[in-house]
Parts: sequence; structure tokens; C-alpha cells
Amino acid sequence: MPIQLFESENHASNYALARPSPPKLLIDSIVKYLQSGLPSNKNGSWTQAVDVGAGSGQTTFLIKDYFDQILGVDISAAQIGEANKRNTYPNISFKVSRAESIPLSDESVSLVTASQCLHWFDLKAFYNEVDRLLVPGGVFAAFGYFVYPIISMDNCSVDNKLAQVIKKAYTDLEEMGYWEQPAMKFLHSNYVDLKLPFDDCVRITGIKCPVTYSGQKCLDYIKSWSAYNSLVKSNPEKAKLFIDEAVGRMKNILNCEDIYSIQINLTFEFFLLMSRK
Ligand SMILES: C[S@@+](CC[C@H](N)C(=O)[O-])C[C@H]1O[C@@H](n2cnc3c(N)ncnc32)[C@H](O)[C@@H]1O
Repeated sequence: MPIQLFESENHASNYALARPSPPKLLIDSIVKYLQSGLPSNKNGSWTQAVDVGAGSGQTTFLIKDYFDQILGVDISAAQIGEANKRNTYPNISFKVSRAESIPLSDESVSLVTASQCLHWFDLKAFYNEVDRLLVPGGVFAAFGYFVYPIISMDNCSVDNKLAQVIKKAYTDLEEMGYWEQPAMKFLHSNYVDLKLPFDDCVRITGIKCPVTYSGQKCLDYIKSWSAYNSLVKSNPEKAKLFIDEAVGRMKNILNCEDIYSIQINLTFEFFLLMSRK
């Protein structure tokens, strides 16, 4: 049975509002690796890519200039609904589909991406699908980021104190048992023990992704977590209190009531694994 934790419309709309997209350096690294083993067509692009577990298109939109056609697939109809709302590109389409059974023909794809989602898949079935879809020389890229932003040693900086509010929300949900432990442990290890599907492999860690979030967007980010949405489902009152507590902590740090419009500098840390067929 697939794990389906991103199903409600509220969850998907918070996801679209607040999740970070991978930084340019990460996308450039994928394109460079792809080009080094599978030169692009005469028009400078490749024919087809598929972004698996696409969410609301956090990666799909970033690769739009490199492929004639891009398909984003996700098991959640709500996520695909948000992706479709945001899509203005004629070469991008989205479909509800499981990662383990993608509606594209054999050896038709140059790049398969899986951003912040591989830890939810049936890996054996998904790898069979990656192998079926990729042309020889095609690339599989799996990447992700630590769920809470980098916490520095600088205890005086307001940004760092606010980043700690996000971390505290993460660890509180962990203590309450709302995170899927094996999946999150695997993600937060940077998939260190993951065997990639092909022998030609590259692993890059520590890719920084600086973002500026409003106070409201920090709260939306917390609300985009699967663990928070599991709490909402099981105990809506407690979920409301949980957000009120995060707001209270932010108010204390900022020493003001309007925490919603304040701008906060945060840095997410990504890792990237690539493997060439
Ligand atoms: C944390 S989100 C990542 C979304 C997006 N790729 C990103 O980078 O933000 C994980 C996504 O994987 C999807 N997902 C989980 N299991 C799946 C499966 N077996 N097949 C397809 N999508 C799946 C979820 O519905 C969710 O949208």
C-alpha cells in the first residue's frame, strides 16, 4: 500500500505557498551531468523529462527550459490540482500517477527527478520504473533537504532564533509521534545508505538554499508538513494550539504582535544524488 500523507486541499495549498524549490546550483548540476553523457538534441534541449512526486511543481517548473516535454506526476490529486493552477507553460503537464507506474513508454525519458519524495516510494518498484523509462545515458536524480532550516551557533541573530522556532515545531511533532520515523530518518541521512540504480553515480551534499520568508510563510511552511497534517486529522484543537504556540514564540523573539509580515532569512540545505543508465 502506498503511503498517502499529502491528500487534503488545505495541505496542498499550504504546500504550494511555502515549500522551497531547489536552488539553481542543484538544477545546473543535473543539467551538466545529463549533458556529459547524453548530449541534448539539435534544438539545445532533450525530448522528455518526468518529475516524480512532483507536489505542486517545485522542481517541474525549474527544468522547463531544458526539455520539449515535461510530465509531473504525483499520487495526490490535491497536489496535482495546485500544480495545474500554477502551470502556465505549454511544455509542462501534470497527472495523478503513482511513482511506481508512470504513463510514459519504455526508453522515452532523458531525466527522471524525484525531489523530497523518494523516501515515500516503494523503492524496488520505482527503480524498475526508472530503468524502464530512461533512454541509455539518461539520468535519474534524487534530491531533498533537511526539513528545518540550518541552525547556526549565532544565538543573537533574530533570523537564527526564528529558525529555531521551526526546528522546535519539527521536534515537538517528532516527540508526539506524528513524523513517519523510518522515512524521515532516511531523508535526514541524505539517503546515505541508498544504493542508486546504475553504476555511474554522483553524490553532492551541503547545497545551500537561502530564502527570505515572511512570518506568515514560516507558519505556512510548518502547516505544509505531513506530520502537522496528521495532527490536524487526529486532533484539530491540538493542531490549533500547536500553531498558536509557534506564533507565541515568534512574538516573544520579535517583541511585537505583527509577526506575520516580518521578513526572515533562512537557509535550507539540499543534497543531490544522480545516477546514469
Ligand atoms: C514532500 S512532497 C515533495 C513534493 C515536491 N517534489 C517538492 O520537492 O517539494 C512528497 C510528494 O510525494 C508524493 N508521493 C508520495 N508517495 C508517492 C508515490 N508512491 N507516487 C507518487 N507520488 C508520491 C506525495 O503526494 C507528495 O506530493
